[in-house]
Amino acid sequence: MAMLEVEGLRKSFGGLTATNDVGFHVDRGEIVSIIGPNGAGKSTVFNLITGVYRPDAGDVRFEGTSIVGKSTNQVVDLGIARTFQNLRLFTNLTVLENVLISQHHRLRSNWLSAVFRTPSYRRQERAMREVATEKLGFFGPRLQSFRLHQPVYVLSYANRRRTEMARAMATGAKLLLLDEPSAGMNPKETSEITQIIRRMRDEGGYTIVVVEHKMNLVGEISDRVIVLDYGQKIAEGTYRDVVNDPKVIEAYLGKKAGDDKREELADG
Ligand SMILES: Nc1ncnc2c1ncn2[C@@H]1O[C@H](COP(=O)(O)OP(=O)(O)OP(=O)(O)O)[C@@H](O)[C@H]1O
Ligand SMILES: [Mg+2]
Repeated sequence: MAMLEVEGLRKSFGGLTATNDVGFHVDRGEIVSIIGPNGAGKSTVFNLITGVYRPDAGDVRFEGTSIVGKSTNQVVDLGIARTFQNLRLFTNLTVLENVLISQHHRLRSNWLSAVFRTPSYRRQERAMREVATEKLGFFGPRLQSFRLHQPVYVLSYANRRRTEMARAMATGAKLLLLDEPSAGMNPKETSEITQIIRRMRDEGGYTIVVVEHKMNLVGEISDRVIVLDYGQKIAEGTYRDVVNDPKVIEAYLGKKAGDDKREELADG
C-alpha cells in the first residue's frame, strides 16, 4: 500500500477548475516532485491534501485511511506536515520558538502544569527542545548559535524557508509536502537545499513531495515527477521521461515551441 494515495481530485473556485481529476500515489521513502507552469494547480493539490480546502470530488488516503474532511490540525496529527509557498512563520518569535511551537500539539499537559512548571512539563519541554535543535541541525551553521534566538523578522528569506522546513519536520510528521523550498534562493543555496532534502529522506526517514520550478533541483532529487497543466495531470515518470515528453514541453513553452522541439527531436 502506498503511503499517500490521491484519486480523482477536483476543486473549482467559481468558474475556474484549479484541479481536475488529479490522481497519483507516493510510496514510503520516495521523493516525488510536482511540476507545472504557474497556476497549474500544484499548491491547490497541497491544500487539498492538508485540509485547507475540501475537494469537490475525489479522495485522499494516508496510510490506507481517507483524510478528506479532516482539519489541518488533524492532518498534522496523523503525520503530514507542509511548508507554504508564502511562508507562514510567527515573525516576532525566534527561530527556536517557531520550531518549538509546531510540537505543542503533542504536549500532554494542561495550563496548570505549565504555570507551576511541574517535572513532567519540564521533561516534555526538554524533549521538545532536543527535537527542535536536531531538526534545525539539518541546516548546519545557518540556523545555529545566535540565529536560534533571533526573531524571524531579521532573517533572510532563505533562512525563513529553512526555519519553516525545520518546523514541518519537528511536528513529528512522516510525510512532508514542500511548496517551492528553493524559492528566493541563489544557485549555491539551491544546491545546498537540494542536498538537505535528500538527507531529510535518507537520514531523517521522511517521505517527501516537492513542488518546484527549478529543474536542476527536481532532476537531482526526484524518484518520480508528476506534471500538472491547467489543473490536470499531463505526465508522470522519471525526470528524463517527463522533460522529454512533448506534452510537457508544449505546456511549458507553448504549442509552437512544442512543435519545433518535436521536429528537432524527430530530426536529431
Ligand atoms: N482560493 C482560491 N480562490 C480562487 N482561485 C484560486 C484559489 N486558489 C487557487 N486559485 C486558482 O487556481 C489555479 C491554481 O492555483 P495554484 O495556486 O494551485 O497554482 P500553482 O500551480 O501552485 O501556481 P504557482 O506555480 O504560481 O504557485 C490558479 O488559477 C489560481 O488563481
Ligand atoms: Mg503554487
